[in-house]
Amino acid sequence: MNHEVSLHGKTFTELIPAAQIQQRILEIATEINREYAKMKPLFLGVLNGAFLFAADLFKHVNHDCEISFIRVSSYAGTETTGQVKSVIGLNMEIEGRHLIIVEDIVDTGDTMNFLLNELDKHKPASVRIATLVFKPDALRNQLNLDYVGFRVPTDFLVGYGLDYDGLGRNLNSIYVLKP
Ligand code: IMP
Ligand code: MG
Repeated sequence: MNHEVSLHGKTFTELIPAAQIQQRILEIATEINREYAKMKPLFLGVLNGAFLFAADLFKHVNHDCEISFIRVSSYAGTETTGQVKSVIGLNMEIEGRHLIIVEDIVDTGDTMNFLLNELDKHKPASVRIATLVFKPDALRNQLNLDYVGFRVPTDFLVGYGLDYDGLGRNLNSIYVLKP
């Protein structure tokens, strides 16, 4: 097993092993199954980062549900730009729907804050957030996160959808940048 990976010349060490990620996703799905049984929720995966989480979560949902993917502007490198531009791909009718936003990570919360405001304009019946990873100490928005996989320190992470300048999304575990 690989406990260290190198991407663009930087070293990352394993923080959350693959099995732990899968176990936690199962727990979140179980909660969602209980709470959304008769609501035909619409999952909105946020690309690119959330594609694996959205897929693995969705596979465990055992009642009627739909999924669609949207995109919000991302940032390059290890620092957030703090500038979120637009939502792309919102081509489904979401008025009156029960939405579950599926995110890879909430850092400052700027992306999620922006997304919530945009979605709200379309009058969904309800909106909840499922994020695999949450960095509470980086949060600078008033946000209510309904399903959180893991709370982590503010260090830079890669793996399981999360990238460092495009690399690392394919890793099955989550890794943290070595100081
Ligand atoms: P926020 O708007 O600051 O909450 O950042 C949200 C987005 O920044 C996430 O959807 C990720 O794409 C990206 N991001 C934040 N922290 C990390 C990280 O540690 N590794 C990789 N991407 C990150
Ligand atoms: Mg993301």
